[in-house]
Amino acid sequence: MAVVASAPAKAILLGEHFVVYGEPAIVLAIDKRAYAKVENRNDKRLHLRSVNLNLAGYFGNGTFKIEQGDTKEATMKFEPVRLAVEKVLEKHGKKEGLNIEINSTVPVAAGLGSSAAVVAAVTTAVAALLRLKMSKEDIFRITFQAEEIVHGAASGIDPAISTFGGALLFQMDTGFKPLEAKTDIPLVIGDTGVERSTRFQVEKVRDVKERYPQVVEPMMRAAREIVLRAIEALKQNDLETLGELMNINHALLYGIGVSDESLEWLINAARKAGALGAKLTGAGGGGCMIALTRNERLGQVLESIERAGGRPFIANKTDEGVKIEGT
Ligand code: MEV
Repeated sequence: MAVVASAPAKAILLGEHFVVYGEPAIVLAIDKRAYAKVENRNDKRLHLRSVNLNLAGYFGNGTFKIEQGDTKEATMKFEPVRLAVEKVLEKHGKKEGLNIEINSTVPVAAGLGSSAAVVAAVTTAVAALLRLKMSKEDIFRITFQAEEIVHGAASGIDPAISTFGGALLFQMDTGFKPLEAKTDIPLVIGDTGVERSTRFQVEKVRDVKERYPQVVEPMMRAAREIVLRAIEALKQNDLETLGELMNINHALLYGIGVSDESLEWLINAARKAGALGAKLTGAGGGGCMIALTRNERLGQVLESIERAGGRPFIANKTDEGVKIEGT
């Protein structure tokens, strides 16, 4: 028997990085998904294959054996998956051999939460194959623990949105709650194609914060205020205000050092083409930017991002979090 599960990628609308220090953030699940197909094996190996990354190998007897691609890249990419599977097997109470095939449409290391989407999909598929009863909270917790290994001091925003879907207001101490939005939040995403590490970006912010506490703390308060105002703007379908708040949020992110040249090109191109607001999304330092764009300007913004060297696509919010696709 095989089980296939999928989980969505995400775009942080406002509040990344500041969320790691307890400030609120707004995040949307988007219609790009990671898929995991899981089946039993006759031996006790954990065999992993990533179709989109051209990586394959297996864990057995405490070692990793590569079959396709680069060993270092494969161990790094597969580590959170291995960890999540181990946690599910702990609940199951005995060791099982598994074949796991990952197929993702989410750009990797680009700020869209590809890793969390993969881990949430794998966790759900393995639990279903082993007929384990798991709530979404359980899946979130396992995905979060596995993700911490890769991202270091993470807020949990990526695992939360990949598990629950929709639009969430997320805060570390109070958790997350679904966000009321009267609008579709029309977004264009531009991928710079520059891969970067979330862990590195988060550490960079920690360093700036430690060196300039009096400078960074007011920026944190400003980021909080931006999110609170945005909640009101979303309730009133006020896209102009939302766009302005995104621009101000980007200025703060630029200030703490997480933008880069590739992002600035695309953000400026989107604004020039008539986007209501544009900012980096996720950890920055490359990866993706988002532009809030009225429907009548979508074509121009897409074209302009492409001319500036980015890979643009339209992102639609999805309410579907992690789910079983079929058995
Ligand atoms: C990464 O998607 C978002 C960051 O705020 C890190 C985190 O919240 O875990 C940069």
